[in-house]
Amino acid sequence: MDDLLKKIAEIKEMIISAINASKDENDIRAIKENLLSKKSEFSALGRYFRELSVEERIEFGQALNVAKEDIANRLSEKEKALLETLAEKKLKKERLDVTLPGYRYEDGGINPLLEVQDEILSIFVSMGYEVYEGPDIESDYYNFERMNIPFDHPAREMQDSFYLDKTSLMRSHTSPAQARMMDMKKGEPFRVVCPGKCFRRDDDDATHSHQFMQIEGLVIDRGISLADLKGTLELFLKKLFGEKREIRLRGSYFPFTEPSVEVDISCAECGGKGCSICKNTGFIEVLGAGMVHPNVLKMGGYNPNVYSGFAFGVGLDRIAMLKYGISDIRDLYTNDHRFVEQFKKGRF
Ligand code: DAH
Repeated sequence: MDDLLKKIAEIKEMIISAINASKDENDIRAIKENLLSKKSEFSALGRYFRELSVEERIEFGQALNVAKEDIANRLSEKEKALLETLAEKKLKKERLDVTLPGYRYEDGGINPLLEVQDEILSIFVSMGYEVYEGPDIESDYYNFERMNIPFDHPAREMQDSFYLDKTSLMRSHTSPAQARMMDMKKGEPFRVVCPGKCFRRDDDDATHSHQFMQIEGLVIDRGISLADLKGTLELFLKKLFGEKREIRLRGSYFPFTEPSVEVDISCAECGGKGCSICKNTGFIEVLGAGMVHPNVLKMGGYNPNVYSGFAFGVGLDRIAMLKYGISDIRDLYTNDHRFVEQFKKGRF
């Protein structure tokens, strides 16, 4: 019996020194697997039971259990210690220095054209207008026919654009959105503003660009008059350029309006006295407008004897250039970072 107890102690010592020598969870797992396997030294001790008396079996069994318990305790202690050093190592490796300066991300600026577009749209939205964007690629039908510009009309020449085929082109103005809106409203009164890009074959220089932006406006209802047009545009232009500005209407011609006007504002630079900016006239032209032509109303399904309307078209490039003192229209399109940077807002 003493020999057996000694054997237990020896095996236990062996296992405990293996536990002490283990360096990671793999070593621990190997020891556990060995203990559970039938071929382990511990399991092998079981064969002695048969040779022992009942009392001896009790003593032997108890000694075995005590040894097993001891081993289990040491295993779990070692496991815990290993986990702790592992966590410590990880913490050391992943140490974060919160005093290091952070990354600085460049925040972009909004192109002044979009800035002006937003401002104008919100003025009209506050007056109850809805916003509709027509397509950039437009049909000949909407771009010209529905705007009272038939196939052989000379006004087409001024708006020569980029044709994709015989019947579709990059729209030359935002006016076709008017006709699309009338089709959608099916004879109901409405007011709308339609922003968007326009394209014309043009030689680019400081004041001309083959791509530009407009906002179209259209109001249709019973009893709309030129006085409504004037009042609305005066309010709009004073909100945009300041209360001190005066507006002036000059008779003009557009195929889709009758009568048609060109709208000027007094020059901010000289206050109307005349300078190089306003070419000594005291006024600067900012938009075209007029009363919707009866043909346009008819084609849109509105009876011109019952309904009337006014329309206007504002060039955003011109407005942005005036508002921000930009002297070359190409700056708006060439994506020079140094240019857009100047229009950053809310920089921190
Ligand atoms: N479509 C015209 C252009 O591109 C601008 C314009 C003038 C629009 C008068 C209108 C208007 O709605 O009434 O030159």
